[in-house]
Amino acid sequence: MEFFPIFLDIREQPVVVIGGGDVALRKVNLLRSAGARVTVISPEAHQGIRALADNGEIEWRAEAYGDDHLAGARLVMAATNLAEVNARVAQTARQAGIPVNVADNPDKGSFITPSIIDRSPVMIAVSTGGAAPVLARLIRTRLEALIPAAYGRLGGLAQRYRETVKQRFSDVSRRRRFWEKVLTGGVAERIFAGDLSGADMAMEQALEAASDTPPGGEVYLVGAGPGDPDLISFRALRLMQQADVVVYDRLVSKPILEMTRRDADRVYVGKERNRHAMRQEEINRLLADLAKQGKRVLRLKGGDPFIFGRGGEEIDTLAEEGVPFQVIPAITAASGCAAYSGIPLTHRDYAQSVTFVTGHLKDGTINLNWPQLAQPRQTVVFYMGLLGLPIIRDKLIEHGVPPTMPIALIQQGTTENQRVFTGALENIQEVVEREKPKPPTLIIVGEVVELRDKLNWYQNAPKALGDKLWASIPDDGDQQGSLLDDHRTLD
Ligand SMILES: C[S@@+](CC[C@H](N)C(=O)[O-])C[C@H]1O[C@@H](n2cnc3c(N)ncnc32)[C@H](O)[C@@H]1O
Repeated sequence: MEFFPIFLDIREQPVVVIGGGDVALRKVNLLRSAGARVTVISPEAHQGIRALADNGEIEWRAEAYGDDHLAGARLVMAATNLAEVNARVAQTARQAGIPVNVADNPDKGSFITPSIIDRSPVMIAVSTGGAAPVLARLIRTRLEALIPAAYGRLGGLAQRYRETVKQRFSDVSRRRRFWEKVLTGGVAERIFAGDLSGADMAMEQALEAASDTPPGGEVYLVGAGPGDPDLISFRALRLMQQADVVVYDRLVSKPILEMTRRDADRVYVGKERNRHAMRQEEINRLLADLAKQGKRVLRLKGGDPFIFGRGGEEIDTLAEEGVPFQVIPAITAASGCAAYSGIPLTHRDYAQSVTFVTGHLKDGTINLNWPQLAQPRQTVVFYMGLLGLPIIRDKLIEHGVPPTMPIALIQQGTTENQRVFTGALENIQEVVEREKPKPPTLIIVGEVVELRDKLNWYQNAPKALGDKLWASIPDDGDQQGSLLDDHRTLD
């Protein structure tokens, strides 16, 4: 973060604008709308500045800039068309410790002004740190379209009732839930429909009807998908933003975790080297206990919670103890990796069925129905199969799969760190030794893999973020995956 975003109270504060042209006028208008006492310093001034000065709304001093003009200012805007004057203003202000903005030259000033969407009292500021003002304006335009003007009125209602609601609910989480209901329910609808008195009435009713009993907790078992944040569902996003506690493990990528409510408590229950892992039974217990404390608990899981995710066990405990829950499905690694690597899992000419299996090692072996997996005209997808790959290869060949059968390994599928390695069953281990794929990696075996040459579309550019997308996944083949417990294999 290059600039720290804040909203400043400059009501009745002295602010100096150096310059008298169009740009200066825009700054003056903005500052006045925030209630500042504005003085403009410029030998010449735009008609609009003169008019404001004539009305006594600002002070205009028709003088060339001198450093004394900054004395006592709380904020300074350098907006002349002379770079050397702007630079001098910036230097003097910085030396005096006064925040200064230099129009069109963010590097010289100490603060920048964002693009804003004004739905007072709701104010949305967008900044690219001066890197791409046009992009900031573009984003602002999109947000303008998304956020109706009525949000300002909704903000006004919230402001009017703030104290009353605070008195009514001393408990913060109850208060928060009340507001969430009001701002997304009938009261908001009336505001959007322009029925302000109806909204006030509905608000009074809501306050009256609000129960004093502590709110019940709930668990949201939410699939976070394979990694690309764009792939999560609207419903998942909504619940991610309203949960009080987030219980997550190592398969949830960082960008997705960052989409959860900022002030929610976060509990990491995944395995990390040198860090104590929570066993599955402990996680089940934790979810139930948190919900019983009245919390809305987000249990965020990589991929789909019901596909090799032990989601069933987690809600089993909840069901037994009468804790309400919801399950939100998501794109599983097989679908995500297949799509992003251009490998259709089924195809009329090559595969009439697809099977998802876990390739985890247990006691040095993989217990699967190999004769069935070796049948022709099918695709087999192995989750958690990287460590057991030599066994998978041997077993498939032993049961009749041709050694030349195409196979793909997809590392960190759907993310900017996706890498895809292809080969034939007989030589895939050489590929692994050479390329050293990192977890999480998915394995696809079948003729459909050949289609990738033609259908590959996803062009990712790995970022500096590197492997930190999943900071907590060990890449050393550590088999102590607590979450997987008896799966016991990270990859
Ligand atoms: C415990 S399973 C969880 C599966 C998850 N519930 C799902 O539906 O995708 C973990 C395995 O899923 C696979 N996996 C999950 N996300 C992946 C990704 N983004 N890229 C490749 N493989 C992934 C890997 O094989 C990993 O070892």
